[in-house]
Amino acid sequence: MPVRASAPGKIILFGEHAVVYGEPSLSLALDRRIRIEAEEAPDGTVVNGEPLDPHRHAYIRQALRLAAPHRAFRLRNESDLPSAGGVGSSAALSVATVAAALRVVRGHAAPLHEVASLAFETEWTVQGAASPNDTSVATAGGAVLLSPDGRDPGVPLWKIERGERTWNVHRIELPRLPLVVAHTGMRARTADQVAIVRRLLDTDPSAREVLRDIGRITRQGVAALLAGDLSRVGALMDRNHACLHALGVDTPQLARLTAAARAVPGTYGAKLTGAGGGGSLIVLTDNAADVQSTLQRLGASAFAAVAGARGLEVSP
Ligand code: PMV
Repeated sequence: MPVRASAPGKIILFGEHAVVYGEPSLSLALDRRIRIEAEEAPDGTVVNGEPLDPHRHAYIRQALRLAAPHRAFRLRNESDLPSAGGVGSSAALSVATVAAALRVVRGHAAPLHEVASLAFETEWTVQGAASPNDTSVATAGGAVLLSPDGRDPGVPLWKIERGERTWNVHRIELPRLPLVVAHTGMRARTADQVAIVRRLLDTDPSAREVLRDIGRITRQGVAALLAGDLSRVGALMDRNHACLHALGVDTPQLARLTAAARAVPGTYGAKLTGAGGGGSLIVLTDNAADVQSTLQRLGASAFAAVAGARGLEVSP
């Protein structure tokens, strides 16, 4: 009987890109998932009936190398998440693949922190740089705060280290947030967007200050969320978006869509979510129906999100 694993996508409420450089970030698991089935194969890994392709299946290949070197698998996967869409599909795929492979090889489920850590290494290797943000929330589910020094709110889950950086992964209980998630229809590879920010930092040291600003916004955002002050949360989302614009990962289309969403009465704030360069945006609003129709008129596909969903699940 094949092993089944599934992991959720995510939205980043605050802190993308800055989290790669040691600032905090806050993310929520989405009720949209990637599901994978895995069993050992006699020779050569096969994905959805085709031989593993090193380019198309880069995350799967790396996840298997780390979790189960020198083993071959028959894999099937399906997804409710747009790929390269800014909602964490590569992280969900990495988490589900690592968890399924470890379960097959060991005969029992691996501890969550081990899955999160190998999935992070997978993303790091494929993307050239990454934070453990997406892989941690895809593993833990709910709401996850990455705290550089461990002094931020929440219950510590695990710690992930790489080079001189440490990320403390905290679970945080948040009130239910009325969010709309919209996909621009434009795919943007996380690795390319991370490289844009890295080049900017190399050529313009003042960009560091933008990252620190994002860090401050994230901490203020967490405080506002815990106080239930949605107006302030929304204003901070708008400011976070402006910082991401300054880093060069906003696009004219994302700018147009976030502006249109902000103009809908009942909206608290809007920002791109994830790597940018296309991908997705999120809107905090009491008027999900009007925000959805406004964004759809402008060509985006939008849905009201249930954020804070379940994390990794493995069976049997
Ligand atoms: O676009 P996504 O869902 O892959 O999110 C990327 C988040 C970044 O902060 C840009 C990169 C990272 O690994 O944290």
